Amino acid sequence: MSNQKPDPFQECALIVQQPGKVQDALAKFFMLMLNYRYGLDIMVAHTSVEAFSIIQRYKESDKIRCAIVIQSRRIQNRSALSALNQDDHFPLILVLPAQQLEEQRDLTQRFENVFLCSWEMAANRRDPAAQLVVEAAFARNKIDELFDGIDHISHQELQARIKHRLGNVKVLPTLPEIALRIMAMIEEPDAQAGALEELISSDPAIVHRLLQVVSTPLFAGSGQRAGGWTVQDAILRLGWKKVGVIAQQIKLMNSLVRPQNSAFDLRRFWEHSVGCALIADRLVNENLVMLPAAVNFNDYWISALLHDIGKLLLGFFFWGHFEEVLKQMTADHSTFREAEKELGDIGSHEYLSQLLLLRSNATKEVVEAVGKHHTTGPAPSSLICLVHLANNLCVELGLGYWPEEPARYSETVLKNLRMPPEEVHRLRDMLGKPTVLQIKEVVSRCAHA
Ligand SMILES: [Fe+2]
Ligand SMILES: [Fe+2]
Repeated sequence: MSNQKPDPFQECALIVQQPGKVQDALAKFFMLMLNYRYGLDIMVAHTSVEAFSIIQRYKESDKIRCAIVIQSRRIQNRSALSALNQDDHFPLILVLPAQQLEEQRDLTQRFENVFLCSWEMAANRRDPAAQLVVEAAFARNKIDELFDGIDHISHQELQARIKHRLGNVKVLPTLPEIALRIMAMIEEPDAQAGALEELISSDPAIVHRLLQVVSTPLFAGSGQRAGGWTVQDAILRLGWKKVGVIAQQIKLMNSLVRPQNSAFDLRRFWEHSVGCALIADRLVNENLVMLPAAVNFNDYWISALLHDIGKLLLGFFFWGHFEEVLKQMTADHSTFREAEKELGDIGSHEYLSQLLLLRSNATKEVVEAVGKHHTTGPAPSSLICLVHLANNLCVELGLGYWPEEPARYSETVLKNLRMPPEEVHRLRDMLGKPTVLQIKEVVSRCAHA
């Protein structure tokens, strides 16, 4: 038996990337696609020598599913080419400036598993050519997309597939254990308030902030002070499910830490997300909306709170791409989702939210609601309608990621809710500034001791 350390890689793509600004940007583009669409982890080599040694190391294990070379000069000889894809064993995509590509063509002709893509094509997000090259290369090598054939499998099977294939992908973090346990607990029909109290009390940082949050007028009522409440009092007054989701929210907000190389605005993100959950809660509790069917409290809270978690993933791990989407939004005065589509729609935030929730054991309804909060489809469920409406109201109240972000109400949703546009405006004005202030206060108390 060998004493080698366990191999940290499941299935991965090797990116051979020469240093340089353009090369960096192109590498990020391919990583985004390979990580989230195909569930491949990434290994990066900066020189051919480094690449050859990685390929040798993993030769027996078949873990490298493809190699992408991004550099400014063509590859000079056939032996270098065959070493880069183990004699056509896996696809090799060469990403070179257009002129170099032409000169490269002769040498690659006899290879069956070498594909060419120009820098110019890959850099132009509106041009689907680079995506098509990857699709063709992967189809030939039977590398499936994560969501291929999901119509024929159950929700549980899909969850298992996502967990398996994204097991080692570092850019899809796992939600904190305690938040997942709270989520599972509030799903259980016969869960006990005592068990939740015990779970929350096991994390003093949550308890402290929870008591701060429940003492805001929004939860404690304007006439009373909740200063002396215990967790038990909070559960008694607000109900254990609501306390559960607030505790979960606190844990999430304090666990997801922005990496240094990102300028993602976490505060605005949480104001939008918490705002969406609080607005959805008001719409339901105060009968401000006629939902065709009843919605589950835990389903709508979690869907509303985490519907945009994909933006956080993009903002944390693909900041360059996120910034480009923001620029596109400003230029076109469009929504984040529209800007994503305009830029080729690779790893959209709706899709990423779905992936993260699938990996977190969320219910089918929740996964569907986050995955369709913009693209609601022809027959949206009541849950989708509620999240869609709360999301847009939140944006209209100035709590989008971008203050000037426009709202986009789906006609189908408004029709399902039997809500004419003037009624939506009335609702927005009724919520108004006081709601914004309440939301900001809750977020402040969740995030700071
Ligand atoms: Fe969104
Ligand atoms: Fe949103």
